[in-house]
Amino acid sequence: MYPNTRLRRLRNSQALRSMVRETHVEVSNLIAPLFVVPGEKVRREIVSMPGQYNLSVDETVKKAVALYELGVSSVLLFAIPEFKDEVGSSSWQPDGIIPKAIKAIKKAIPEMMVITDLCFCEYTSHGHCGVMKDGHLCNDETLPNLLKQALVHADAGADMIAPSGMLDGTIGFLRHGLDENNFSNLPLMAYAAKFASSFYGPFRDAVQSAPEYGDRKTYQMDPANISEAIREVELDVQEGADIVMVKPALAFLDVIRAVKETFDMPTAAYNVSGEYAMVKAAAKMGWLDEKRVMLETLTSIKRAGADIIITYFAEAFAELRKRGEV
Ligand code: PBG
Repeated sequence: MYPNTRLRRLRNSQALRSMVRETHVEVSNLIAPLFVVPGEKVRREIVSMPGQYNLSVDETVKKAVALYELGVSSVLLFAIPEFKDEVGSSSWQPDGIIPKAIKAIKKAIPEMMVITDLCFCEYTSHGHCGVMKDGHLCNDETLPNLLKQALVHADAGADMIAPSGMLDGTIGFLRHGLDENNFSNLPLMAYAAKFASSFYGPFRDAVQSAPEYGDRKTYQMDPANISEAIREVELDVQEGADIVMVKPALAFLDVIRAVKETFDMPTAAYNVSGEYAMVKAAAKMGWLDEKRVMLETLTSIKRAGADIIITYFAEAFAELRKRGEV
């Protein structure tokens, strides 16, 4: 008790503060999302996500090499396909954009871990995450299509698959299907507790995947629910998920903590597009110190219990770390 105990003593110097720091963000914890588009030499900045780009496959490889050299050794791929249709069939073309990108990255840097987002919203003309009937997303009709897409990614050499559609039974269905096709060693990172969040706004610009009608509230979760999040994660764990993810991160730090404490699984958190855009916008206005806010944000996600952070800050953080600035 005071005056014997003075907690301020251990805050006296930078060295002392570093010594007693409880939470460390490492570059090896980070996954960088990339948005792959058709064409060649395309490098188009995403308006609502300054510093993030739509990249053609050749440019994606360049970016992957730059990331790898900075110590970011895993990327999460999203695509804008050549064409969209009702069911999203461009997602399971063996020569589609994602298989091409996987092969090109693995050829350039075999050690790079290539994770693919597995969903349909980027590939369907209506922008929903699967097969629609009468305005409703059909769960069981979508699962076989997801497997088709997963097998194409696996065949192309993906190192991990991350299903993000929030359809019931996805993980079990994919695990079974992958095992039957000799991919029993391919890990699944489940978007286990993914909320119907308005923080995905800039992402939907980036991949042109805003739903044409309706919203995603019949499959993504109500942001108010934490018990249900635990049930979602529990099912994915039972169905064979290797890593479980909570998404978004910042408005759901309590969910991250609860998931980590309840399951003690490798836990990922997705620091989503809107969380990135807010910091970039405020920094541009001169209202926040971008570097400090980035570090504080990533630290808070780690402190909440995430082992892995999917973040658009991956490259910037790694650069600053290399220069010893964070
Ligand atoms: C679905 C998907 C989304 C994001 C990742 N995967 C969008 C959505 O569910 O609408 C959002 C990521 C972000 O906002 O950064 N394929």
